Amino acid sequence: MIVRPLVDQERIIRELEALAEFSDTPKPAITRILFTKPDLEARAYLKGLCEEAGLQLREDALGNIFARWEGSAPDLPAVGTGSHFDAIPYAGMYDGTVGVLGGLEAIRSLQRSGFKPYRSIELLIFTAEEPTRFGIGCLGSRALAGVLSAESLRGLKDPEGRSLEEVRWEAGYMGRLEDVALPEGYYSAFVELHIEQGPVLEQERVPLGIVTAIAAPASLRVHLEGVGGHAGTVLMPDRRDALCAAAEIILGVEAFAKSSGSINTVATTGFCEVYPNAVNSVPSRVRLEIDIRDVEQSRRDQVIRNVIQGVEQVCTRREIKYSVEIINIDPPAKAGSEVLKALVAACSEAGVRFKLMVSRAYHDSLFMARIAPTAMLFIPCREGISHRPDEYAAPEDIARGTYVLALTLAKLSLAEDKAALKEDPVLLDE
Ligand code: GLV
Ligand code: MN
Ligand code: MN
Repeated sequence: MIVRPLVDQERIIRELEALAEFSDTPKPAITRILFTKPDLEARAYLKGLCEEAGLQLREDALGNIFARWEGSAPDLPAVGTGSHFDAIPYAGMYDGTVGVLGGLEAIRSLQRSGFKPYRSIELLIFTAEEPTRFGIGCLGSRALAGVLSAESLRGLKDPEGRSLEEVRWEAGYMGRLEDVALPEGYYSAFVELHIEQGPVLEQERVPLGIVTAIAAPASLRVHLEGVGGHAGTVLMPDRRDALCAAAEIILGVEAFAKSSGSINTVATTGFCEVYPNAVNSVPSRVRLEIDIRDVEQSRRDQVIRNVIQGVEQVCTRREIKYSVEIINIDPPAKAGSEVLKALVAACSEAGVRFKLMVSRAYHDSLFMARIAPTAMLFIPCREGISHRPDEYAAPEDIARGTYVLALTLAKLSLAEDKAALKEDPVLLDE
């Protein structure tokens, strides 16, 4: 069956621009944090677009949004696509949103072309992929994959001490958290369109990336408690300065990652809270959050062990009380071969070159891969810049990604079973 999706490039760009209006910081800096006003406004906007497209809407107790285009075999596992629309403080307007609005436009482009889905095609708009409010990334997809129990969800608090329970109720999400995890076999396949967030596609002038694996992320929270006091009167030999201990720990994090033996190891101390944070006061308490990743789990885990040992050594020497909390320590994800094959076949049908690649950033697909054959499609972004206001993806790249996504969804929707896709004569060797 020949499918020719009719992608409306101008419409996606218009909708991306409209979505960018929902932000707590002035443009081009986007800040959209879970269950704040911009997040709720963006939800309403996106749900309106899904309804306009004739999709069946449902939301779960965490605010994950499902918009389904029912196929002629509605009882078969559906084909899923989607991404997130939250944004870290001072982010750009393409991270996640390209996969949400691109996913929606892929569905609309298939509708316009007269395509009739066999398996249903569902847009999944995830709650809070970014860890900003509750400290843990992929909140929605983690819960959908059953990795985060209802009990752990109930224990989450934001930096102001407000619980997830409280804020989700306030936002109108009152359902049972026990019902969020998706039943086994809910999706036959899942595909996420996303900007690369790195420079490879642009540098190599390749229009699309097909993601074969996602690096393993982990994050730690370190609490340090020393002794505060007057910056003029507490003499240097008597100090137990929590921020000085933190400084040594932060440099250790950098050194352990650099000496891991692989360029693929990265570690970042991206959060540091100092108490009382006053120029004439010796810092008594510090909270650090440390992000450690690698494509190879064992090497990442060695860096985590080194960091924890480093914290112990620094704090013992400086007489600082400490605790280390592991917020998440996730395995890497491998893409499902049948979804990869559908993506490769779609690229060749569209006449678009692609590169097989690894994602160093994490995505909701890291968790979707636990419950469904999953793969990702990357489009280039300017200079690889992301998580910054100057993040940019070109309209034609967004439209091209959307077109190939639509072709892929069509193939996956028509697949009677996984065997149908295995017939594609495409080699996946990198
Ligand atoms: C996702 O936003 C990540 O930090 O990789
Ligand atoms: Mn992000
Ligand atoms: Mn993202």
